[in-house]
Parts: sequence; C-alpha cells; structure tokens
Amino acid sequence: MSASATYAKLQQSLQAQPKTWLITGVAGFIGSNLLETLLSLNQRVVGLDNFATGHRHNLVAAVEDAGRTTEWIGRPRGELESLFQFTEGDIRNLDSCRQAMTWTNGSKSCPVDYVLHQAALGSVPRSIEDPITTNQANIDGFLNMLVAARDAGVSRFVYAASSSTYGDHPDLPKVEDKIGKPLSPYAVTKLVNELYADVFARTYGFKTIGLRYFNIFGKRQDPEGAYAAVIPKWISAMINNQPVYINGDGDTSRDFCYITNTIQANLLAATSDNPEAANQVYNVAVGDRTSLNALCGFLQKHLAARYPHLKDYQPIHRDFRAGDVRHSLADIGKAATLLGYAPSHKIDAGLQESMTWYIDHLAPPSQPPLTGR
Ligand SMILES: NC(=O)c1ccc[n+]([C@@H]2O[C@H](COP(=O)([O-])OP(=O)(O)OC[C@H]3O[C@@H](n4cnc5c(N)ncnc54)[C@H](O)[C@@H]3O)[C@@H](O)[C@H]2O)c1
Repeated sequence: MSASATYAKLQQSLQAQPKTWLITGVAGFIGSNLLETLLSLNQRVVGLDNFATGHRHNLVAAVEDAGRTTEWIGRPRGELESLFQFTEGDIRNLDSCRQAMTWTNGSKSCPVDYVLHQAALGSVPRSIEDPITTNQANIDGFLNMLVAARDAGVSRFVYAASSSTYGDHPDLPKVEDKIGKPLSPYAVTKLVNELYADVFARTYGFKTIGLRYFNIFGKRQDPEGAYAAVIPKWISAMINNQPVYINGDGDTSRDFCYITNTIQANLLAATSDNPEAANQVYNVAVGDRTSLNALCGFLQKHLAARYPHLKDYQPIHRDFRAGDVRHSLADIGKAATLLGYAPSHKIDAGLQESMTWYIDHLAPPSQPPLTGR
C-alpha cells in the first residue's frame, strides 16, 4: 500500500470506529489544527490548555472549521460540540493532567486512548530570556503528563519534540540518531523530553513516540509578539507595509513543514500497529530546504497580486540571532518507512492553501476580509 493510501485508510477506520484523544496545548496553533481534524473525523477529544500562548478564539475557529467539513454538513451543531470537552488547566499541575485522561458527556465517559502532547512554551529567544518558566512548562509539565498518561493506561503518548535537538551537529540532512549539543534552554527541554520518554518506555513499558517538528506553518499560527514564528510575522509585516527583518545574511535555511503534514504524522504515530514504530523519535518535515531570502521571495510572490506595494519590497538584514541553528533540513525516511508518513504539501502548496487565511486575519481592519472570519 502506498504511504498516502495508508493515511487515507487510517482516516476511514477512525471514522468507522471513533477513539478518544487528549490534546494538550489545544488552544495553540498545532493543537487547534489537530482538534479540527479529529472533530472532522468524528473523534471524541479532551483538550487541556492554560492559555499561556494559546487563544480561546482558536478553539472556536477549530470547531467552526470542523463543522464545515463534509462529515458534518447537515448534522446538528450540538452533536459536534459535544465531542469536544475542554478544561482550562496547567500541565505543571499533576491533578489537572490526571483529570484530562477521561472524556465525559453526561452519563457517558470514555478513557483517553491516545495523547497528543503539544503544550509547551515554544521559542528559542523566550527560553534564553526566561529559562526557568520554559523549564517548568516543558520539563516539569512533560513529566506530569507522562505520569498521568502512564497511570491512566493510555495506548500511546505522542509528543511534540523539536528539530532544535540537533543543536550543533553539522550533518545535513538531519538523521534521527545523530544529534549534537543543544544551543538553547528550549532545546535542552526538548532533549530531556526525549530522554524521559525513552526511560518511561524502558522502565514501565509505556508506549511513546516523539515527533521532531521542523518549522511548522499554517492557519492559526500566532503572528503577534516578540516570539512569533517567521512566516506569520513576515506576512503580517508585508501586508501592513512594515519592514521585514532578516536575521543575518538570509542564507540561513529551514525545512518548512505545512500543518497538514504535521497532523498526518500525529495520527499515524498514535495509531501505528507496527511494533518497530513505538518508542522512537521521528523527523516531521518535508525534506526540502528553503533559505530565508527565498522564503521572503515566496511570500512576496503569493501576496503581490493583492498588494502591489510588495512588487519592489526589500527586507532589512540585521545581526544573526543567538541560539539559532544555521541550516535545518530533515531526512524523513524513518517516518516514511516505519509510520507510512508521506507529506502532502511542500512549502509552496502550503502557502498557497493558507494565504487566504493569512490575508483575512492579518490585514488591517480597514481592508475587507476575503472570507468570513
Ligand atoms: N510550531 C513549530 O514550528 C514547532 C517546532 C518544533 C516544536 N514545536 C512544538 O510543538 C508544540 C506546539 O507548538 P505551537 O507552535 O502550536 O505553539 P503554541 O504556542 O501555539 O501552542 C502551545 C500551547 O500550549 C499551551 N501551554 C503552554 N504552557 C502550558 C501549560 N503549562 N499548561 C497548559 N498549556 C500550556 C499554550 O497556551 C498554547 O496553547 C510545542 O510543544 C512546541 O514546542 C513547534
């Protein structure tokens, strides 16, 4: 069976036999996109988030967007909403983690089958400014989640690892078993997550899978604040006619991965019955490298028709940023072989698909949105 057929078959089987999922960090960018897909597949979902960086409006949008999918058209909205149970809580609190391990609706309750652990404080610069808070959320919180999930007997614990774990290792493309020294407190926390997951597998027979995300992008990624990711930040700057700053000479490169690919990897990781697939870490990327200069050009290309001022737009180069790795490119062979992962979108297709959302949500209020918000 081809890899894309593996994912299609998985979606069908989930629809036929719905499962119960816990998404931590559900109000964030990746978490809310996972929520949308799982609801569109008729799954029961528990969500946990403390809104440290996530937003309530992401939850509303995820449920609304799921309601627009073919699965839900013509069906009662209340039925869709009843599948999602949200708890505002902090993963630094073990009781909150334990309470999130059961989905309840009236007299019906189901234990969580799969955990998709996304909650963490992202961003290298944030961790350099405040390593203690990053450590508490990303390591203490992670350990709480592992303990709660182990005690609840979940089938699998899939967690957001990070390409930052490759640190100063010079090889390209990045292969899972060759890592260097972490270059930031954030990278330390993500490495420690992998170490804990491995020890829980060895010590308690607990089944985990770590997904080393490489620069994920797509709708609902936050453009605001000092720690925003590059794609929403630059699109926002471009359409609002503000300067785009490139840290360094612009040859710095990343393997930008569209959110749809990331969702596929999570669902495959949670449900894979390949005995060799569990207790491993996998790169989640596309296997293509794009420089920051090229990214700037891509964004100009996608926006130029609607924003003529971008035709001669020039970014401003400034100093390299502390803690950043120079190049990042993934070998995705392991995820393809053991999980059946086959990314459906390269960077251009991902930007094409998400551009309307960016324009609708990042344009100044004086401009009418392209579609309803
Ligand atoms: N976006 C990327 O490119 C990328 C790359 C590598 C790894 N990751 C990892 O993926 C995960 C999701 O990232 P994202 O881009 O969606 O970020 P995000 O900031 O949009 O989402 C993180 C969510 O976790 C929640 N959260 C943070 N601390 C919490 C706590 N103590 N208790 C409960 N909830 C808490 C936040 O409120 C937010 O909703 C993170 O673990 C991040 O480190 C992301």
